[in-house]
Amino acid sequence: MKKILITGGAGFIGSHVVRRFVNKYPEYQVFNLDALTYAGNLENIKDIENNPNYTFVKGDIVDEKFINDLFALHNFDGVLHLAAESHVDRSIEDPLAFVKTNVIGTMNLLNAAKNQWKGNFDGKRFYHISTDEVYGSLGSEGLFTETTSYDPNSPYSASKASSDHFVRAYGETYGLPYVLTNCSNNYGSYHFPEKLIPLFINNIINNKPLPVYGDGNYTRDWLFVEDHAIAIDLVFHEGKNHETYNIGGFNEWKNIDLVKLLCGIMDDKLGREKSASEKLITYVKDRPGHDLRYAIDASKINKELGWKPSVTFEEGLEKTINWYLNNQEWLENVTSGAYKEYYQKQYS
Ligand code: NAD
Ligand code: DAU
Repeated sequence: MKKILITGGAGFIGSHVVRRFVNKYPEYQVFNLDALTYAGNLENIKDIENNPNYTFVKGDIVDEKFINDLFALHNFDGVLHLAAESHVDRSIEDPLAFVKTNVIGTMNLLNAAKNQWKGNFDGKRFYHISTDEVYGSLGSEGLFTETTSYDPNSPYSASKASSDHFVRAYGETYGLPYVLTNCSNNYGSYHFPEKLIPLFINNIINNKPLPVYGDGNYTRDWLFVEDHAIAIDLVFHEGKNHETYNIGGFNEWKNIDLVKLLCGIMDDKLGREKSASEKLITYVKDRPGHDLRYAIDASKINKELGWKPSVTFEEGLEKTINWYLNNQEWLENVTSGAYKEYYQKQYS
C-alpha cells in the first residue's frame, strides 16, 4: 500500500485534493497534515473523516523535529505539498509568517523527504503546488508560460517563488524527484471568505459593502477548484519528474466585471430587485503592489497530459453560489471569532 502525505488538506484546495485521493484511491493510505490555522477547518473534510484509508495529523510544517519524526514513522511514498499561508493581503501585514510556513515549512518537508529516501527514489515523488503569482504581473497582452521569468511582487508571491526555487534546487542537487505546478486563481466550495469571490458572496448575503480595490480593472484567470484537483491528480500520477506545468482556466475577468456578474446572479437567487447588490459596490484604497493581470497559458498540461477545465465559468459559479447559499452555517462558523478582527483591520 502506498503512503501519501498531503499537507494543507483542511484548507480550500487541499480539502478537494484529499477528498479526491481518499475516494478514488482506496489502495493508498492518505495522511492529511494540517496545522488548522484560521484557514484550515475539519468541517471541510467531514465526509471522509471515517474512511479506513484516511488519517488526519494535526501539526505544523515549521516544526522541524515533528516533520522528521513523522517521515521516520511513515516513510511516505509521495508528498503533495499544499500547506501555505495563502492570502496576499495578510502577507502585506505579516510577511514573516509567510516566510516561516511557505519557505521554512517547505524546506523542512524537502529535507525530511531527502533524508528519509536516502537517494533511493524508486516510486517516490515530491509535488509542490504553487501559484502563477511567482511570475509577477502581465500588461494587457501575453500569457504566463512555464519559461516566463520569476518576478514576484508581494511577500506572498516572493515566499512561494522562494519555495519553488528550493524544490528545483533539491531536484538538481540531490536528485529529488519532484513535479511543480503554478496555478491561477481558484474558486469553489470551502473557499475562505477573505478571498474575492467568497468574501463578496458573503457580503451580498449580509447586505454589506463590496470593497473593490482601486479602479477594479485588475484581471485574474479563474479556475474551478475541482478542475484544479483533477489536474493535481493527473500531474502527481503522470507528470514527468523535474517538470513544471502551468494550470489555468482560460477564463480572464476584470474584477469589476466579475463582481457585477456575481451581483446579478445573487440578486436573482435572493429574489432581490435588479441591481440591488451592485449598489453595495464600494471602491476602496488599492492593495499595495497590486499585480495588474494574471493569465495562464495551460497548453503544456493540455498537450502532454490531456488536461483542460471540465466546467464552464457559468456552471462553476452557479455551483459555487449555490454551495454558499446552502452552507450558511459554515460561513457563519468561519466568520465568527478572529475573522471579525481581521475584517475590521483590513477594511475599516
Ligand atoms: P488555504 O489558505 O485555504 O489553506 C491552507 C491550509 O494550509 C490550511 O488548511 C492551513 O491550516 C494549512 N497550513 C497553513 N500553515 C500551516 C503550517 N505551518 N503547517 C501545516 N499546515 C498549515 O490555501 P489554498 O487557497 O487552499 O491554497 C493551497 C495551496 O495552493 C497553497 O500552497 C497556495 O499557495 C496554492 N495556490 C492557491 C491558489 C488559490 O487560488 N487559492 C492558486 C494557486 C496556488
Ligand atoms: O493567482 C493565484 C493566487 O490567487 C493564489 O496564489 C492566492 O493564494 C490566492 O489568494 C489568489 O490571489 P489573489 O490576490 O489574486 O486573490 P484575491 O481573492 O485576494 O483577490 C483577487 C482580486 O480581487 C485581486 O485583484 C484583488 C481584488 N480584491 C480582493 C479582495 C480580497 C478586491 O478588489 N477586494 C477585496 O476585498
